[in-house]
Amino acid sequence: MRSLSTLLFAILIAAGRSTSWALVNIPLTKLERTGSYFQGSLHADRDRASSLKGRPTSGPRTIPASNLAYTQYTTSVGVGSPAAYYNLVVDTGSSKTFVGSYVRTSTSVPTGQDVNVSYWTGFFSGSEYYDTVTLAADFVITNQSIGDALQYADFGGVDGIIGVGPVDLTQGTLSPDANALIPTVMNNALKQGLIKKQTLGVLFAPATTYNDTNGVLTYGGIDHALYTGEITYTPVTKILPAAQFWGINVTCLTYGTHTFIPQSTAGIVDTGTTAVLLADDFFAMYLDATPGAYLGANNTGFIVILSSSVADIQPLNFTIGGCVFSMDTAAQLIPLDQNAMFGGETGLQYGVIATRGADSGRGLDFAIGQKFMERYYVVFDADDHRVGFAYTDHTFSTYLP
Ligand SMILES: *[C@@H]1O[C@H](CO)[C@@H](O)[C@H](O)[C@H]1NC(C)=O
Ligand SMILES: *[C@@H]1O[C@H](CO)[C@@H](O)[C@H](O)[C@H]1NC(C)=O
Ligand SMILES: *[C@@H]1O[C@H](CO)[C@@H](O)[C@H](O)[C@H]1NC(C)=O
Ligand SMILES: *[C@@H]1O[C@H](CO)[C@@H](O)[C@H](O)[C@H]1NC(C)=O
Repeated sequence: MRSLSTLLFAILIAAGRSTSWALVNIPLTKLERTGSYFQGSLHADRDRASSLKGRPTSGPRTIPASNLAYTQYTTSVGVGSPAAYYNLVVDTGSSKTFVGSYVRTSTSVPTGQDVNVSYWTGFFSGSEYYDTVTLAADFVITNQSIGDALQYADFGGVDGIIGVGPVDLTQGTLSPDANALIPTVMNNALKQGLIKKQTLGVLFAPATTYNDTNGVLTYGGIDHALYTGEITYTPVTKILPAAQFWGINVTCLTYGTHTFIPQSTAGIVDTGTTAVLLADDFFAMYLDATPGAYLGANNTGFIVILSSSVADIQPLNFTIGGCVFSMDTAAQLIPLDQNAMFGGETGLQYGVIATRGADSGRGLDFAIGQKFMERYYVVFDADDHRVGFAYTDHTFSTYLP
């Protein structure tokens, strides 16, 4: 049984750091595999014209991302030469890139290191290689360190992860070279002149089909066509452990007239988490404010909201960098026709606000996951240590099945 992965998929904690973290396990119905290499299923600014001397371009690269099974975003990544293609989860909550059933080619160079990574849910272990990684036809990273996952758990439906979190999270994942930092795809793309800034722009959107290529990743910059208004930036938080990830402070969280979080509180922004997680005490306030709501039967982990209460749902407003980013009613609900994907019961109204599995005050009081990010453009800016948010056409859109 896969646990939550999709829900919390891959908030990644480098080996050894996970012990103090409570896990939330949410069984999901089995995903179909997607032409994958995991057998057995454990689980622009536009390119600058730079034809000078035939050198590769170094402007931002825009690449599609797919919403798979309504619960995770994947992107197709080639490894080796000729490249074998893998569907990898795009994960800002971890920093290693690994694939299952790795196809070795002439460009595969073993590093002699073993690799072992534990995630919030799941793990993988295997051998480390250098290889050529193709993110797009004109965006090819050479000598990228990748893991060949020989053992893994809880990565159903996908072929591995492309980790775009901070490089520090890679420390402690190799052996014997336990202190080594493993350059991420972003680090190598910069070093190899493929991009000029370690910036990742992410557009997600509510999915309308099982495998919906409705997302856009921009490596090395932002795509101004994908958002409206201004981008509001906030610095990466200083509060640990959120600071190890793409962590930010939320300065206020309100739900209608209720104030859940009255002061600056740290959490993370994580493409690898499906839901929007709140510390248990904040989540309890959300439950209390929603008459009749209860945690889903059969341990789906999702909140069930009585249909009679749907009309009373209030905006859940996060204040980030002085601006309000609101999740309206539609943003807080799972469309009824997607229930089966979560192991939910037909006819029940499930919500996307879930519990973090620990009380507040531990330096990671929320996780802004995919269901929030489907409503806003998000910019992960490693050079300036900040995260940006902007409105999109999907911010207040409603779902039309
Ligand atoms: C590949 O990268 C590693 C560091 O990640 C470096 O030690 C090694 O020299 C590089 N090899 C080549 C051929 O560039
Ligand atoms: C974030 O909030 C904490 C208080 O929780 C505060 O100490 C810190 O200065 C704030 N800003 C940053 C960038 O961490
Ligand atoms: C929450 O955000 C919505 C949308 O921006 C806004 O209309 C509403 O006034 C906000 N509520 C509070 C309490 O700030
Ligand atoms: C929930 O559990 C009950 C009792 O085990 C079972 O009859 C029902 O089919 C389950 N519902 C779902 C959606 O799995």
